[in-house]
This record gives sequence, structure tokens and C-alpha cells, in this order.
Amino acid sequence: MVTTTAANLRPADAHGIARAAEILLGGGLVAFPTETVYGLGADATNDRAVASIFEAKGRPKFNPLIIHVPGVAEAERLVAFTPLARRLAESFWPGPLTIVLRRKPDSPVSLLASAGLDTIAVRSPAHPVARELLISAGRPLAAPSANRSGRVSPTTARHVADDFGERVDLILDGGATTLGLESTVIGFEWDRAILLRPGAIAREDIEMITGPLSSPSGAISAPGQLRSHYAPRARLRLNAADVEAGEALLAFGPDVPAGARTVRNLSRTGDLTEAAANLFAMLRELDASGTARIAVMPIPNEGLGEAINDRLARAAAPRGVE
Ligand code: TXA
Ligand code: MG
Repeated sequence: MVTTTAANLRPADAHGIARAAEILLGGGLVAFPTETVYGLGADATNDRAVASIFEAKGRPKFNPLIIHVPGVAEAERLVAFTPLARRLAESFWPGPLTIVLRRKPDSPVSLLASAGLDTIAVRSPAHPVARELLISAGRPLAAPSANRSGRVSPTTARHVADDFGERVDLILDGGATTLGLESTVIGFEWDRAILLRPGAIAREDIEMITGPLSSPSGAISAPGQLRSHYAPRARLRLNAADVEAGEALLAFGPDVPAGARTVRNLSRTGDLTEAAANLFAMLRELDASGTARIAVMPIPNEGLGEAINDRLARAAAPRGVE
């Protein structure tokens, strides 16, 4: 039997929301109701906070997360809208529609939150508690559904408490969610709209704006699994114990081999949450240094190490294979 103390459950009143905003700005995790399901939220601009979402979810892979914003104006600081995307947002926001758009170069959103992709999924939720929280925090919030890996999406605060216990700093109890089904996720290939995940808004309603929706083409193997996953130009050599001539080094831990032209250390102290937070940004930095090869030190395959190793293995795979 699982018992939950649920000392972290709080009514979603003005006090609860103010406290939740404070926790989010301090890098903590807050579960909150949306009109679809409860989300497990963190400051989307804080790599470390985003890493702790993955840690709490206990998922062995980094999935790109939905970034919640109050509306189009705030989303526009993060992503570039096309005219079609703008019409979708004007028709369905606030509401259960997520739109995947190109990341702006100066977007403050953590690369880990978008799993290293050049796109970001944005959504403006309609639930009053979610909206008040977004406005109080004044930051975009990364929030996947607030369930542990392999469990169903939560529609009450109690579900979240049962799943996470004390792993989340605060659970805002706003009662049962009304829709109970996740948002519909729409992406684009060129300017064609693609249904990436069916959800709370019916295909037919979206097609009134977009015309016939395409299914993901061969470029996308599973919902949300884009081939455009960031792959470094440089070749990766995994589990490297030393550095070969001309290599840059992606290090982990305190004992770093000498000889690399450029070094980034995922975590000097060997902290896997810190390593996850740094992973995508450091890969990009090493790639940008112009090196042809990157040696990667071994990462322990436990906790977030499993997701880090999954991502590194993909980045090291021969091009065209994913
Ligand atoms: O209703 C919802 O959407 C809930 C509430 C909390 O807002 N959130 C939710 O998040 O369901 P999550 O993380 O469980 O699902 C995110 C979906 C996944 O299918 C993911 O692959 C897709 O969005 N996604 C996120 N970013 C993407 C991107 N850059 N490209 C393609 N798909 C993306
Ligand atoms: Mg989910």
C-alpha cells in the first residue's frame, strides 16, 4: 500500500498561487491544474529546474516538453510564428492546443526543455489557476503531464500526490480537470500543418483553419519524435578514457584526462542533474568550436544518466539513422 503524506498539497487560492510562483522562481517544481490534465511545472528558462522535471518523472529519455505561456505576446519572445500558426493561436488560445514552432535564436527557453530541438512546443492554457500562476511567476513554464513514467495522466491533485509524494515541492489543488485529455499538438513541415498528437481539440475543428491535416511523414517516427533532433556536426566517441589528437572533450566528474583542445565539463562533482541541465548547451558549444571529433567521458547509467546516455548514443549514431 502506498501512503502519501501530501503535506505539499495546497488549495489553489491566492496564497497557494503566490507561494507556487515563489517556488518556481527559486527553481522548484510545482504541479498545477490545466483544463486538460495536471502539469508538472518548472521555470522553462532554468536548465537545472527543467532537469529536475525529468528526474522526478523517472523517464529514461529526454522528451521535448510543452512550454506554457499566458498568450501569443509571451510566446512570441520564444518562437517565430508563421501566419498560419498565428491564426491557430487566435482561434484556439487560451485552450488545449499546442503549437510547435521554430525557436528564436535569443529564446530564453532551456535547450533541455526542447530536448535540443530547434523547435519549441508552446501552449496557452485556459484554466484560471494555470493562467494566474503563469502571470505571477512571469516566466514561461515547462510542464509535462504530472505522472511518473508509465502511469496515466493525472486529472486530480490526489493523482499527482499519489504518483510523486514529496518529489514535487508543491501541488496546487484546483479540483478535477474538465477535459481529462491532453492538448492536441500541431507542428509544421514547411507550411503544411501536421497532427503530431491527437488531443482535446478535434482534428475537424483544427482543419477549419488549416485545411486537411497531414500525418507525420517519414521524417517523424513517433509523435513528437522528430528526426530534426539536434545532432552535432562533430563525430562523438563515447566512453572515452583519454583524449586523442584533435579531439574536444565532453567531461564528467573531477578526474579529467588532459590533451583536449576544448573542454566542457557536464558536472565537476559528478552530479547527474547538473549534467542533464548542461548536456545540450555544452554539446552545441563544443560543436561550435569547429572540432571534428568530441570524446565523451563515461556517464553512469543510473538516475538521469540513463537519459543522458540515450541522447549521447543517438548523437553518436551514424547520420541518417535514428
Ligand atoms: O495537455 C497537455 O498538453 C499537458 C498539460 C500539462 O499542458 N501537457 C502534456 O505534456 O501533455 P507532455 O510533456 O506529457 O507531452 C508533450 C507532447 C509530447 O507528445 C511531445 O513529444 C510533444 O508534446 N512535443 C513537445 N515539444 C515538441 C517539439 N519541439 N517538437 C515536436 N513535439 C513536441
Ligand atoms: Mg504525458
